[in-house]
This record gives sequence, structure tokens and C-alpha cells, in this order.
Amino acid sequence: MRIVILPTELEVSRFAADIISDVIKKKSRSVLGFATGSSPLATYEILIEKYRKGELSFKHVSTFNLDEYVGLKHNHSQSYRYFMNEHLFQHIDIDIQNINFPECINNDFKECSANYESLITKQGGIDLQLLGLGNNGHIGFNEPTSSLSSKTRIKTLTKKTIESNSRFFDPSEFQPSLAITMGIGTILQSKKILLIVTGDNKKKAVVDMIEGPISAFCPASALQLHNNTVVVVDEAAAANLQLSEYYVHSESMHLNSTSDRIAPKINAN
Ligand code: F6R
Repeated sequence: MRIVILPTELEVSRFAADIISDVIKKKSRSVLGFATGSSPLATYEILIEKYRKGELSFKHVSTFNLDEYVGLKHNHSQSYRYFMNEHLFQHIDIDIQNINFPECINNDFKECSANYESLITKQGGIDLQLLGLGNNGHIGFNEPTSSLSSKTRIKTLTKKTIESNSRFFDPSEFQPSLAITMGIGTILQSKKILLIVTGDNKKKAVVDMIEGPISAFCPASALQLHNNTVVVVDEAAAANLQLSEYYVHSESMHLNSTSDRIAPKINAN
């Protein structure tokens, strides 16, 4: 795991947006995995800015979102499709045919989940998967005790998630208690993973993910098994890491590069 600790959320977002841009610039037909939630919002804004300045085009990019609620219409303000349209897709030149969500119209969840996996494979796999981190270590809707080799499937939301989301729904309105999510095994198949995490309230999950044992109790700890993961974290979320000095030292060898290439400082003598 490459751990990049930066002072603020803005710097985290800039770094993440640069990584995503580098991937697209290297391969215009990139397949990107996207996440919703508050963590990637500023990163999406920066990507939009890069597109507006003519620095970046999403014309040939395909996307696969991590998860989606079951039972919400596309245009429901709480659907993840709506979220992505609002915060990214409608502001860039992406072809809507290339946007994918793990949705299920016919209620055959097994078939829909298997189709999502096949579609990802057919596209050649995900080049870069963007992730946020839940307070309890979840990634996607893979809550603690999810199988570390799970594939796309239907999951029951935790009571806590349902309760905390209830504020976004009218009391008389249907509120989903199910979601379809990529599995941890699906995420681990991505060629590169970029996880962004900020804020004091995530510091325990950050320690469990990076320095804890690999355990289904912290789904994100499975990322320790992936050989091309970058975690970009702000100082508040990194506060409890035991080896933060080492991560900062090691990162200084990257010379703050967003590329994978390590450019060591070589003694000229
Ligand atoms: C969203 C997702 C979730 C979030 C996580 C963190 O598609 O898959 O796992 O990434 O809940 O959410 P925020 O960023 O709102 O703290």
C-alpha cells in the first residue's frame, strides 16, 4: 500500500484528481470505478474543472459505480445515479452509454449481479477504482463481516445506515433497505485502487485498514492484499497511524509524484 498523508482535504482531493487524470491521459478508453458519498466530492469538482479548462476528456471513458440502492427510480434524488449525474457526469463529456450502475430492473438480483461482473470483465476490467472509507471500515456497501472474496451482490443495509439515511427521505416515502454493491473480491480485481479518506472521525478505520490485521471485521483491510493501492489521507484521519513517520519518509522518495514511478533521490557522488 502506498500511503500519502497530506495536510488538508483540498490537497487530498487535488492529489486524487491528478491520479485519475494521469490514468485517463495514459489511456483514453480507461475503465473507471466511481464511488458516491462526501469523500470524492471535491475530487469530482477538480476533475470538472480540468475538463472545463480543456485538460481532460472523458469522451471514451467507461465507468462502473460501486453500489446503488434497490428500489429507487433513476431520477430519485437519493439514488446514486442521480448523485453521480449531479456531481460529475452532467458536467463532463462522458458518453451516457458508457455509464454503468449495479441496478436491477427485473428483481432477479443474482442475474443482475452476475451481469455486472461480466460487463466489467468484458470491458477489460477496472483500470482505477476510486473508494471512500466508512467509519466502520466498509468499502462500497460491504459492511463488516462481508466475505473478503465477495462479488457483486445484494446486501441488507445495517440499521444504523438506514436510520442515518432516513433524514433524506420523506416519512411517507419508500426508503430502501437493500443495495447492490460490488464485492470486496470485485474491488480487489481492479488494476489500481485509489482510496481517499479525510477527517478525524475516520481515524480508527484508517488504522484498522492500514495497520490492523486483515479481517472481515474491517472490510477495507483486504486492500492490504492488493499490489497497487494508493491511500490518500489527510492529517486528521492519519492521526493515529503508528508508522506515519515512515509513510511520510517513504513518500518523500516519490517526490510527491502522482505516478507509480518512484524517483529516488540519488546521491550524485
Ligand atoms: C459510496 C460508498 C461508501 C462510501 C463510504 C464513505 O458509493 O461506497 O462506501 O464511500 O460510506 O462515505 P463518505 O465519503 O460519505 O464518508
